[in-house]
Amino acid sequence: MVSGLQPSGRPHIGNYFGAMKQFVDLQNDYDCYIFIADLHALTKIQNAKELSDNIVNLAIDYLAIGLDPTKVTLYKQSDTPEVTELGWIFNCLTTMPYLMRAHAFKDAEAKNKEINVGMFNYPMLMAADILLYDPDVVPIGLDQKQHVEIARDTAEKFNRIFGEVFKLPEPLILKNVQTVPGTDGQKMSKSYNNTIPLFAEDDEIRKAVMSIVTDSSSDTPTNVKDIHSLFKNTEEIEKLYSENKGKYQILKEALATDLISFITPLREKRKGWENRKDDVLKILKEGGKRARERAEAKMQIVREKIGVKLY
Ligand code: ADP
Ligand code: TRP
Repeated sequence: MVSGLQPSGRPHIGNYFGAMKQFVDLQNDYDCYIFIADLHALTKIQNAKELSDNIVNLAIDYLAIGLDPTKVTLYKQSDTPEVTELGWIFNCLTTMPYLMRAHAFKDAEAKNKEINVGMFNYPMLMAADILLYDPDVVPIGLDQKQHVEIARDTAEKFNRIFGEVFKLPEPLILKNVQTVPGTDGQKMSKSYNNTIPLFAEDDEIRKAVMSIVTDSSSDTPTNVKDIHSLFKNTEEIEKLYSENKGKYQILKEALATDLISFITPLREKRKGWENRKDDVLKILKEGGKRARERAEAKMQIVREKIGVKLY
């Protein structure tokens, strides 16, 4: 299994329920490679202090949610420079019109954002992240589905041209989660300022919950209910929401209470790891070494297949 997150700010409950929780739940069932996509984050963050702080923070987040470094290879992408080599090879097989169909590119273009070449190529580096390790599965949130499909297409194309080298991975997307809405009703995202951070303090949780946008034409606050469904089963949710029709304040308070009970132990665990920065860096470094050995072995085959390995 392979997956990763960008170190682009504090993770939120959408990241957790869409992706991170799956990493923890599956760590005993797969040989797992979980990484910090720092080279991907460079497409947005061009400030050395901010990027390195974010990397360390994400490593702490991974450990705080319960990833066990004795079971999982935990590493940062830039410790396996083979991904950039493979990403380049993929760039040479992929056409511009194909990449122009990617949602992330189309969205950025629609917003008239200035798009750097790294952003445009993003799916090729992501394909390399994945295909280097021959995973069966890639656990992700729904918004990353297209990127895994692009990785599959890329593997097929490479295999067709040069011979069988890459396995076709399957995305793992939880049906009951799909896309967690943010406080404004759009997808919860670090880029939209609409998140409930995974390790938020109680006040911050209450404030975020109270700011969730509700629709006054209905007596069910859909966004509140959708988020609440992550913490209660369907029966409990239906009961609570039918008994409190139109009582937005009560429902929001109930959600805040459930969030606080869920987040408090995670936040405590995180504080424990924050005091062990040296251990965190050691774990990351060791993981990087293990990942790189595997990446290097795979690249020997790739180099031979494309015809650049002469000795
Ligand atoms: P963000 O949009 O907050 O920057 P990322 O792109 O870093 O999120 O996503 C990290 C992981 O979390 C990905 O697997 C992504 O699919 C998942 N994810 C992000 N936002 C959500 C959401 N609102 N609901 C479910 N999963 C999400
Ligand atoms: N694009 C992913 C995101 O924004 C992060 C990522 C980079 C990733 N490489 C990956 C996820 C490989 C899974 C597998 O969330």
